[in-house]
Amino acid sequence: MFTSIEFDNFTIKIIDQLKLPNELSYLQITSIAQAWLAINRMNIRGAPALASLATLSIAQKVHNTQYADIHALKADIKEACDYLYTSRPTAVNLGIALDQVRQSAEIDADDLNTLKQSIIDQSILIWSEDVERNKKMSDNGANWLINHLESTNKIEKGSKLSILTVCNTGSLATSGYGTAFGMITRLHEMGRLERAYYAQTTPYHQGTRLTAFEFTQLGIPSCLVCDTAIGSLISNGHVHAVTVGADRIALNGDTANKIGTMQSALFAKTFDIPFSVVAPRASVDRSLHDGKGIPIELRGAKEAVTVRGLDTESGHQASVRMAPKEVGESDLHQVYNPGFDVTPANLISAVVLETGVAVNRGENVDVQSLL
Ligand code: MRU
Repeated sequence: MFTSIEFDNFTIKIIDQLKLPNELSYLQITSIAQAWLAINRMNIRGAPALASLATLSIAQKVHNTQYADIHALKADIKEACDYLYTSRPTAVNLGIALDQVRQSAEIDADDLNTLKQSIIDQSILIWSEDVERNKKMSDNGANWLINHLESTNKIEKGSKLSILTVCNTGSLATSGYGTAFGMITRLHEMGRLERAYYAQTTPYHQGTRLTAFEFTQLGIPSCLVCDTAIGSLISNGHVHAVTVGADRIALNGDTANKIGTMQSALFAKTFDIPFSVVAPRASVDRSLHDGKGIPIELRGAKEAVTVRGLDTESGHQASVRMAPKEVGESDLHQVYNPGFDVTPANLISAVVLETGVAVNRGENVDVQSLL
């Protein structure tokens, strides 16, 4: 199994996701500033993975720095956390992980080394616990879905199912195994997966570039779906369910995830198939009753007006403009390119965390019951 982040004795390497799927290469991260850039430029992306990289870079910094005293260490942690927090806005995992690191710097310690170790341990934990957590939520989600489909006679007992996912939520987006992708992997391991369908996820193409890469590497039967064909796929009965990850879940179940998620939820509701969100507890924003306050990253015009890929003749990465040059360049011809949308809880059948499954009992999903 490959993983987005390799961490060994305070050496950090990440898969450079900007180069995938054409090139599998690694970037070494040696400073907080490099971690910030890698997150901001999306060399690494996916809510859990960016939280892990941020905190590992703090562990590395603390390990490599000789501090004059405890005050200098605490000031450095505050500065690092404040700075890393600004790298991307929507995924709450980042803020929650950084808060946990801040708290680890607040323990009552008289000795500099004890405090350093507390911060390092907490920072590493966010990364090291991720795979086990993902396996738990994936197993929870797979069992819930099979039960749900069998008990509502949507599939026959013991038969296989097909499922749609959006964006990339696999090993590249986490420290390994994945969230919604992990649930699909678990169904495959259980012998219950017919085929996984994955949306292109334009304009950034996390589906086309990254989920496609992961499914092909793992040999899981899969099919790429154009974003514009999701309605067709669902209305024609090709999938029994939809499952997605999350960047921020409010306490009532409203969920921010990659742009295009909401339309798959609307189609799922319209054609009566279950729509689940699979995520760690660290994707739940306990300060938000509903999704109205979720900050949504607005992205630039460039990725919407160009196609990027491998030029098959030269073998080099190429970027080609599709829209007229005026589009995205002036106030008159703008581009609307939000990175995420918020799916209202009434469209969500279940939120699956590592602690269990909260099902929709009306308009809301009681996520609080799993915390
Ligand atoms: O902009 P990205 O690629 O970081 O967005 C990623 C997503 O929206 C994922 O679905 C989400 O972070 C969950 S990853 C397990």
